[in-house]
Amino acid sequence: DISSLHEELAEHFPLGAAIDARETSDPSAELLLRHFDGITAENHMKPEEIQPVEGTFTFDAADELVAFADDHDLRVYGHTLVWHSQTADWVFEDADGNPLTDSPEHQQLLLDRMQTHIEAVAERYGDRMWAWDVVNEAIDESQDDGLRRSEWYRILGPDYLAHAFHFARDAFGPDVQLYLNDYNTEFPAKREAMFQVVSDLLDAGVPLDGVGHQLHLNLVRPVAMVEDTLERFRELPVQQAVTELDVSISQTAEESLPTAPPERLVRQGYYFRDLFDVLRAYDDVLTQVTAWGLHDGRSWLRTWPVDRPHEAPLFFDDQLQSKPAYWGVVDPD
Ligand code: XIL
Repeated sequence: DISSLHEELAEHFPLGAAIDARETSDPSAELLLRHFDGITAENHMKPEEIQPVEGTFTFDAADELVAFADDHDLRVYGHTLVWHSQTADWVFEDADGNPLTDSPEHQQLLLDRMQTHIEAVAERYGDRMWAWDVVNEAIDESQDDGLRRSEWYRILGPDYLAHAFHFARDAFGPDVQLYLNDYNTEFPAKREAMFQVVSDLLDAGVPLDGVGHQLHLNLVRPVAMVEDTLERFRELPVQQAVTELDVSISQTAEESLPTAPPERLVRQGYYFRDLFDVLRAYDDVLTQVTAWGLHDGRSWLRTWPVDRPHEAPLFFDDQLQSKPAYWGVVDPD
């Protein structure tokens, strides 16, 4: 057969996949190029990979992905500049290895580090990426101001977000879309917390162009929750993207089975069908949909939060073959 995911979705939005450098050779590369329009670095552009030691920039793996994208005309989505996780410890420490405080000197030091990192990435890649997750996972709906108490927040306070977006706009220029990205945005409380944070940033003139919904979903999370979130953010002058889509087939986070129960893969096919019905209907606000991995054998959910050999959250199985999730999108009847 000659079906292809990205051809199927072409009139709606581009489709991306998160990959590591190992996906740039066949047979993975062949599958990627047949079905996807773009890539996100699953890990290679995270702060700890790009600047493991202060002032030492390691772009090799990221460069490999970008070169592959150049060779094949793929869009590249940048992930990520400012995050509490996968960021080297030195970022939040003084020269003696002690934690930075919220003193004016330490605040300036951390802001300088933030700016230096963003400028180095921008200098390397310019506008090669059409968008960047400028800040990742900043929202905590249990806090009054909706902001996660990360190291960034602890040292700089809530203003760190505005600083990050301004540094990014200054460094990348107007053609690179700047995103605030988070998980669980389909839940009402988190949705509203993020909505408030984004509205406030926009009111303050912060250069934020888009909201990223990771969409790490599962079979019992109603697709209507996703629809409600896309509808809510439609009220704001922002683009939206699905940045890290996968649909877990596990019933609990700890469940671990030797293989995927066939019946769940069928249910997952219907889930993907219903989800993409919604996503297609929001193609006027969605700039891209990105799957968090190329095939089940490479999904982070195989090992997180526990070893789960049965986990199968993507369009293709370990043998790179299409499964009901694929057919739910390509042949939804
Ligand atoms: C995950 C990667 O998939 C794993 O390979 C890595 O070990 C941990 O990070 N939210 C994000 C992504 O924004 O960067 C995470 O990616 C998954 C959750």
